[in-house]
Amino acid sequence: MSKDVTTATIRQMKAEGKPITMLTAYDYSMAKLVDDAGIDMILVGDSLGNVILGYDSTLPVTMDEMIHHVKAVCRGVGRAMVVADLPFMSYQVSVKDALRNSGRFLKETSARAVKLEGGQEVADAVRSIVNAGIPVVGHLGLTPQSVHQMGGYKVQGKDESAAKKLLADARCLEEAGAFCLVLECVPAPLARLVTESLRIPTIGIGAGPYCDGQVLVIHDMLGLYPRSSPKFVKKYVNLHEHIATALKQYKEEVAERTFPGPEHSFGMSEEVLKKLY
Ligand code: KIV
Repeated sequence: MSKDVTTATIRQMKAEGKPITMLTAYDYSMAKLVDDAGIDMILVGDSLGNVILGYDSTLPVTMDEMIHHVKAVCRGVGRAMVVADLPFMSYQVSVKDALRNSGRFLKETSARAVKLEGGQEVADAVRSIVNAGIPVVGHLGLTPQSVHQMGGYKVQGKDESAAKKLLADARCLEEAGAFCLVLECVPAPLARLVTESLRIPTIGIGAGPYCDGQVLVIHDMLGLYPRSSPKFVKKYVNLHEHIATALKQYKEEVAERTFPGPEHSFGMSEEVLKKLY
């Protein structure tokens, strides 16, 4: 039997109470590291707009940019489920757009699922994508594609009406056929209530410890992103510092002619060499 992670694996993990691990990746080398570490799901997030392309938000990211990176990630992955993030305006205009762009991900890359942001307003799109046989991951709470409507990157669902709406949206996405749900930046007790209310698993980011799984942006957790990271990020290593030190050392060694050394150079026979002078 295949050991690949499928929607059935993810559902089973919730049923067995096994925490689901998800990280983002945007290229071959990082995807290979993440897959080799046994992470269950790899999200090629539109966060690539911030951490790879240097935009101030995820809004400018296009389908073609996403496809380029999803293809690279898929080449590095053996076991994990690759989830491709539908970028801003690739699914909001019409259900047809949502279906066509989700289909592009599955036809042009080896992604096995798509993710989109929003609740009840995207339920028809979710239903249509799922009916076409494409697994869908929902995304509620802080939805970065709506940053201007939310008035910034803030914790969501703090008051009674916002919390009730989030819970209703979560049920709506489950009913529409989403197979799991990302909860971003919501109070831990609310994430717990959503998690206990749904049959599908929740994957939290800044949503506390009670979700069925956790996801982080890899550039944040590895300390690679030069700008400040949100409070919910745990930096497992500060690669920015390690890389800066390595680059400084390289510059010095080239300047001092201590790199490359004999161990990094190729020789040739003296006899041939003499004939060249
Ligand atoms: O784009 C992304 O990386 C995401 C995660 C933050 C869940 O949507």
